[in-house]
Amino acid sequence: MKIVSTVEELRHALPFNQTIGFVPTMGYLHEGHMSLVENARRENDFVVMSIFVNPTQFGPNEDLDRYPRDFKRDEKLAREAGVDLLFYPVTETMYPIDMARVSIRKGADVLCGASRPGHFDGVLTIVSKLFNLVQPTRAYFGLKDAQQVALIEGYVRDYFVPVEIRRCPIIREETGLAKSSRNVYLSDVEKEEASQIFKALRAAKETLEAGLEIEEVKRQLTVRLNEIPNSQIDYVELVDYPTLGIASKDSDELLLAVAVQFERARLIDNVIWKKG
Ligand code: PAJ
Repeated sequence: MKIVSTVEELRHALPFNQTIGFVPTMGYLHEGHMSLVENARRENDFVVMSIFVNPTQFGPNEDLDRYPRDFKRDEKLAREAGVDLLFYPVTETMYPIDMARVSIRKGADVLCGASRPGHFDGVLTIVSKLFNLVQPTRAYFGLKDAQQVALIEGYVRDYFVPVEIRRCPIIREETGLAKSSRNVYLSDVEKEEASQIFKALRAAKETLEAGLEIEEVKRQLTVRLNEIPNSQIDYVELVDYPTLGIASKDSDELLLAVAVQFERARLIDNVIWKKG
């Protein structure tokens, strides 16, 4: 595995005439990230991973400075998983003059976008830069961040970006807790309590399947999440997927998404319900 940090090094290290699978990350890798690499490995000749904690997607009072980092460990995991090229740039490389940013018109004002204004403009800005640098055949994103994938798909269609976006399933702990770099902020007790999030989502999906009305599903899900000690609901939403518009009886796919704030970590999780 080759490690590069500048644009020039990256350009030199990219192969010609080979399919490239790309996995963008912010590091502190776990099985969720590694599952994306596995998919990329399977479907492409060459796998590129990026590790970059992108400042423009963090709000002023968010955890940019304390976002967990461990490059040595990440490097080892990436190598073992069969990454061919690891791109590890510094901020000045990714934002040389910071004159232009991507801005999203639809779908960024709901769910995480509502509680994190500007977050998805930051995500799309960095993803766009990375796509231009790596020029991947396929890029791999986890459904853990279902809104993120939907917005990236929208961006790729709007800008005619020649890349195939691959959605990958959420990887969970045995308890059901979705794997996340931010889980390190949780105590053991909180981890146990946080596993209720997925159980509540799964129960909500079952009630949807059974034909319960959307508002009632949301209400019951809210009641259940409110029972989790030492935590506070940030949002409980049910939207059409992947448009992120209002859910209706005609929606083919529904996204049930929640964010729950624990003392030191804000956790997100979701389930997608497909009709029929
Ligand atoms: P990060 O949070 O490091 O996640 C990188 C990728 O791993 C994302 O596509 C995310 O959805 C996926 N992922 C995280 N946890 C997962 C899990 N439990 N199961 C499956 N996939 C999981 O998302 C970002 O970084 C950034 O916003 C980024 C796209 C890199 C732009 O900065």
